[in-house]
Amino acid sequence: MTLPPFPTTRLRRLRATPGLRSMVRENVLSPADFIWPVFVMEGTDAEEPVASMPGVMRRTVDRIGQAAHEAYALGIPAVCIFPYTTMDARTEDCALAWSPDNIANRAIAEIKRAVPDMAVMTDIALDPYNINGHDGFVENGEIVNDRTVEALVKMALTQAEMGADILGPSDMMDGRIGAIRAALESAGHQKVTILSYTAKYASAFYGPFRDAVGASSALTGDKNTYQMDPANSDEAMRLVARDISEGADMIMVKPGMPYLDIVRRVKTEFGVPTFAYQVSGEYAMMQAAAQNGWLDHDKVMMESLMCFKRAGCDGVLTYFAPAAAKLLNG
Ligand code: PBG
Repeated sequence: MTLPPFPTTRLRRLRATPGLRSMVRENVLSPADFIWPVFVMEGTDAEEPVASMPGVMRRTVDRIGQAAHEAYALGIPAVCIFPYTTMDARTEDCALAWSPDNIANRAIAEIKRAVPDMAVMTDIALDPYNINGHDGFVENGEIVNDRTVEALVKMALTQAEMGADILGPSDMMDGRIGAIRAALESAGHQKVTILSYTAKYASAFYGPFRDAVGASSALTGDKNTYQMDPANSDEAMRLVARDISEGADMIMVKPGMPYLDIVRRVKTEFGVPTFAYQVSGEYAMMQAAAQNGWLDHDKVMMESLMCFKRAGCDGVLTYFAPAAAKLLNG
């Protein structure tokens, strides 16, 4: 459509007052759009701040139910659990990854006990339990695919057993979605959903997260042979098609803000439930600038989250979830 020329068309007319602006606003943000990533650690009745992520805490499992309860009361429908592990939890065979007794799995049960209606999302990857910090087994310096997928399936089954609603394979191995979906079906977990980290890029924006989970010192080398090249976009579309065909219910793009073009393509080309992860480095950048007085914390938080919606996201994984929900609730 061609617009009639000025002054017939004055696009500022509809921006003149808050009322007019709200009438023509194309997207809305609500606490229901958020998945809140939380960090759990060993111990009892304790929490500690994550230095590189101001405002983010690690909590012991016995404190995670209360945190989830508060988030749910703010209207946040889901949390995503990540474990903080020290070197003694890490082995070459990663056996702790599929133990029902590991802190991430105990946290699933604790949240479902405290807030049964809250959706609990997990992370499926070997990195918190791997001696070398990689998401898959390492053999002769290579991150091997098929043996890793077998371990990921064991992780998935334990998480489903513990009550998880949403499984989040974040490892980027080939074939994991199909293998996990088949195992869930044969074990009677037909209702467990998969939110696949489908387009997960090899990104330097994960730096603060690796501190938060204790992986920074463990990781040897980089993740470039399994996570995506930031230069690629068509490849992400092939991955989405593949993951949907293998049984993923929802798709994630990660990181978020620098990759919103990928979100838009996924939403336009596939029309599937699409999520993005506003990762630790994005959060840390905004917090650091706000602490210096260089950015307005609340305004950049809300603007950044709205931009995910505009780009086509159905929801956002964000460390801002509780703060943003509080603002939205007034
Ligand atoms: C690990 C995992 C990572 C994140 C989520 N799951 C880090 C990585 O791949 O090294 C990053 C989250 C963030 O930066 O906020 N499988």
